[in-house]
Order: sequence, then structure tokens, then C-alpha cells
Amino acid sequence: MEVSHKAIEIALQQTLDKRKRDAMYRSLQVNDGLIDFCSNDYLSFARSAIIRQQVKRTAEEMSCLSGATGSRSISGNTSYAEELEKLLAGFHQAEAGLLFNSGYDANVGLFSSIAGKEDTLICDELIHASIIDGCRLSYANRFRFAHNDTEDLEKKLQKAKGNIFVAVESIYSMDGDMAPLKEIASLCKQYNANLIVDEAHATGVFGKQGRGLVSHDGLEADVFARVHTFGKAIGCHGAIVVGSNVLRNYLINFARSFIFTTALPLHSLITVKCAYQQLMTEDFDNTYLHQLISHFKAGFETTKDVFLIESKSPVQSVVIPGNERARNVSKQLQLKGFDVRAILNPSVPSGKERLRISLHQHNTFEQVDQLKKHLKEILFD
Ligand SMILES: Cc1ncc(COP(=O)(O)O)c(C=O)c1O
Repeated sequence: MEVSHKAIEIALQQTLDKRKRDAMYRSLQVNDGLIDFCSNDYLSFARSAIIRQQVKRTAEEMSCLSGATGSRSISGNTSYAEELEKLLAGFHQAEAGLLFNSGYDANVGLFSSIAGKEDTLICDELIHASIIDGCRLSYANRFRFAHNDTEDLEKKLQKAKGNIFVAVESIYSMDGDMAPLKEIASLCKQYNANLIVDEAHATGVFGKQGRGLVSHDGLEADVFARVHTFGKAIGCHGAIVVGSNVLRNYLINFARSFIFTTALPLHSLITVKCAYQQLMTEDFDNTYLHQLISHFKAGFETTKDVFLIESKSPVQSVVIPGNERARNVSKQLQLKGFDVRAILNPSVPSGKERLRISLHQHNTFEQVDQLKKHLKEILFD
């Protein structure tokens, strides 16, 4: 007898219908040919012909397999992966590093395994979903502190017990603003807490040769672990957790998102290495990106409810309260040829719906001017 899935499909559809009524429905969109103001390819590495050719040449020379064939613990380990870990750990001035298949996997593996039930995980309230999910899989006590609020963090540190871990993003993915890393690191020292910094949006953008904000602030020795992801400015896919040798060995043994998954294919590792080699060259220069960011911010017009969140990073968020309104503005910009996406509630708090505009080395000053002009017309005329 055939099984009927009708009842569950009706239930799922009802949930989807509610989501639509609440203006929270997500759907996938292909926006070919529009000007990119939404990708995380800040340094344009994903579209770099130089990197593509280097990867092609190296992959051919190494006649690399199409797949990793297994997890790192079984058939998926290679000397190439181990050397890449050493190279990247050295670049980020850490003792060791461990590759993960994505930033999501790195955070889930790290946060789910690092703390036991007597311990405490403390996260900024705007922390990325991958860290929230990792913490949810942990038996540790959990606290949230108000965004970038060191006073509130201190209150939570006073309540914490066992081994304490504090999680922040150096650049917040949705607001683009920076964590006050020096103050947070000093509080962590005072309370004997271990600081973990997700550098997803700072890698390639801040610090000498794009080493990240921890490096920019000279805090390498004060941070327990850092997560550098490769899907943003590095233009590829995957991530590395850098820290001590002990941490690396611990994650190999306990991080389930590392253990129970097929490793990244060699082709991806070659791409990551070629991209990092661009950062490592003497003439690596991301000044243009920072000039573009300043240009975008200069003279940006705001009102009481529509405003730009203060950010020095390529992530520039224009708050336009209300899912319908934010979505409508993004649609109008798309019709004018700009790929700008709205970030809606529940991804961001209600009233903080926004256009998340990201800037890249491949954007021109003229494109930024045009974008600002159209945005102003849509919002204020
Ligand atoms: C702060 C932060 N951490 C982690 C991730 C996950 O990285 P990945 O896209 O490599 O899974 C993201 C991506 O959205 C992010 O913004």
C-alpha cells in the first residue's frame, strides 16, 4: 500500500501560508546581470581570473581527485590539507589551525564541543546563527549580553561558572559594525574567560594583509580561538579555526561537524591557498575597498526611522522598518539594475528590517553614486 504524505504536506503548507501572511516568507531568487551590491565577495577573489588560472594549473599538475573520498579521520586527509592548516595558522599568528567545510560547520563544531555542563557560554545578542546553533547543541549554561555592551557582558561574566567562553564577531554580519575587541579581551582576562572571535567578515578586509581585526588590534595572544571563513573575502568555501595545538587536537576528537563529514575536495583547498597567497603578496592592497566604503557613507541622507548603521566595513545596512517596506525598496532597486537584498524579520529584530548593502573591489564610485541617487529617490521623493 502506498504511503500518503498528504496530511503532513497540508500541515507544512499551512505553516508556509502563515509565514506569507506575516511577510516573512523566504524564496530563492536569481538576479543575473544586476550590479552586485549583495555578495560577500568583498575583494572580488571569487571572480578573479588570476586565481582561477592558478587553481586550474595547480589542480591539473596535481591531477587531483574530484572528491575527498572520506572524512579527514579516514581517507579524506592529505598532506596538502595539513600544510595549508600550518600556512594559514602561521599567517594568522596562531600555533595551529583546523579546516572545516564551512564557517557554519566550524562554529557548530567548536561551540557544541568546547564547553561541558558545568561551564558557561556567553554570546553577544547579535551573534551569528551558526554560533547559536552550536551553543544549542551544548549542555553548558548560556547567557546573552546586549550588543557590544561591555557593562552587560561584565554582569554576565559575574554570574558565569566553570570554564567560561565569550563569543563575539569582530565585524557583525548584519550590522557591519565592530566589536570593541580590546575592552572585551581585557574583561575576559579579568574574569579568566576564554574569548572566541568569529572573523568571517573581517578576514581580508581588516588588519595587515587582511589578517583580521584581532591581528589589527594585536590581540592574538589574548584570544582563545578565531574562526576565519573562506566564503566571504577569500571567495571560496570552508573555514579554519585557529588557536593552540591542544585546541586543534580537541576539535579533531570532539567536533562532530568535523568528524562526521566528507572533507573539502582538494580543488577547494587549492583555491583557498591561491586566494591566501594573494593576501600574502607584498603588493596586496585593499585601500580601494575602504575608499569605496567612505564614499558610500559620505553625505548619506537619513530620517528618524530610515538610517545607516554606523560601520567601517563593507557591510552597510540601511534600516527601513517593516518587512513589506524594506522588501519593496529592494525590489525597486533591482528594477533599476542593482542587486540589493532586504534582510527581514525574523533574520533581524522587528523594526530593524534593512537593506544590507555590501561593497566590493569590483564596484565603481559611479555605481555607488547611482545606487545612492536611486535610493534617495525611492525613499524620499
Ligand atoms: C559571522 C558569520 N559566521 C559564520 C558564517 C558561516 O560561514 P559559511 O558561510 O562559511 O558557512 C557566516 C555566514 O553567513 C557569518 O556571517
